[in-house]
Amino acid sequence: MRVLGIESSCDETAAAVVEDGERLLSNVVASSMDLHVQYGGVVPEIAARSHIEVIDGVIQQALDEAKCGWDDIDAIAVTYGAGLGGSLLIGVLTARTIAIMHQKPLYPINHVEGHVYANFLTSVGDSPALSDYKLSSKQPEFPVLALIVSGGHSQLALFRNHFDYTLLGQTQDDAVGEAFDKVAKIIGLPYPGGPSVGKKALEGNPTAFKFPKAKMASKYDFSFSGIKTAVLRTAQDCIGEDFTFPSKDIPARLSEEQKADIAASFQRIAIETVVDKAVLAFEEFQPKSVVIAGGVAASPELRRQLAERLPIPIEYTDPRICTDNGAMIATLGCFHVKNGRPTADPYTLDIQPNLSM
Ligand code: KG4
Ligand code: ZN
Repeated sequence: MRVLGIESSCDETAAAVVEDGERLLSNVVASSMDLHVQYGGVVPEIAARSHIEVIDGVIQQALDEAKCGWDDIDAIAVTYGAGLGGSLLIGVLTARTIAIMHQKPLYPINHVEGHVYANFLTSVGDSPALSDYKLSSKQPEFPVLALIVSGGHSQLALFRNHFDYTLLGQTQDDAVGEAFDKVAKIIGLPYPGGPSVGKKALEGNPTAFKFPKAKMASKYDFSFSGIKTAVLRTAQDCIGEDFTFPSKDIPARLSEEQKADIAASFQRIAIETVVDKAVLAFEEFQPKSVVIAGGVAASPELRRQLAERLPIPIEYTDPRICTDNGAMIATLGCFHVKNGRPTADPYTLDIQPNLSM
């Protein structure tokens, strides 16, 4: 059984073909990130326009690399939320059109649930483009504790089975990746902030500054707005200015050592914040597997802290399917098919920009 997955919720236009919920046959991602770098973040209008320009080519390439014609595809899976409205619309309208034209069942996919399913891929087909992918060695076993950490989401969920999960907690404001992106901007490092803060942090002292960890009413929830403001105040302090000093003028006056110390101290506490909750949930629910999903899963500091504090080893799947991609959407699509989940009406499926887990 083969599913074509289509993903366009943010700045990546992506399509992939997955077989039986475990074998990756193709994974094509076109990113408009380069167009957003000069603005320090994703510009929704630019993202939507670039989806329109590339989506047909991306889907065709995904079919070609999988050596599939339309007859080889059993179903279409598409992200219908959460995400940017204009961006989601391009993927959903394209998927609806294809489903009607080629008479394929259409499955609506929750983007955040999709991230978790990248961890269910365990093998690749014979496309040369996939030959160096490093996937999980086996599928996660239920109950699965899933930590979803990206630029748009920070969620902790317990999956008892497919389509049977509890959202334990989530961020009440910024996502963890978003906090990295904002801190990078304050200290003058390039977007995306996760990798650039991580790199700078290697030269810094992680205990140079004492940033706060938010205390939450609900024990598995997160918050990153406080630490972001603390970073701004610290940076202003470092250059001898008060809170009225404009943030855009800060980087030019910070020394490289100050930048590195802020990056290292922020990274340590931001990552500790999510790891604390994951450890707490592990102790309470004793899951058989722990999976990490989303762009921040690539963080070496996250991997280091989890390895140090969790009693079971964690497998990290290929970074190319941790950030936004079509493979995770196609994989979850396969499980929709296998579990007889309801299909969407291709004439009416609407986007849900604020869809929650
Ligand atoms: O999953 P993703 O590609 O997109 C969303 O769905 O949001 O995640 C992007 C986020 C960005 O905020 C980026 O700064 C962060 O993931 N990120 C990282 C690393 N690589 C990407 N954060 C920390 N360390 C990294 N190595
Ligand atoms: Zn995502």
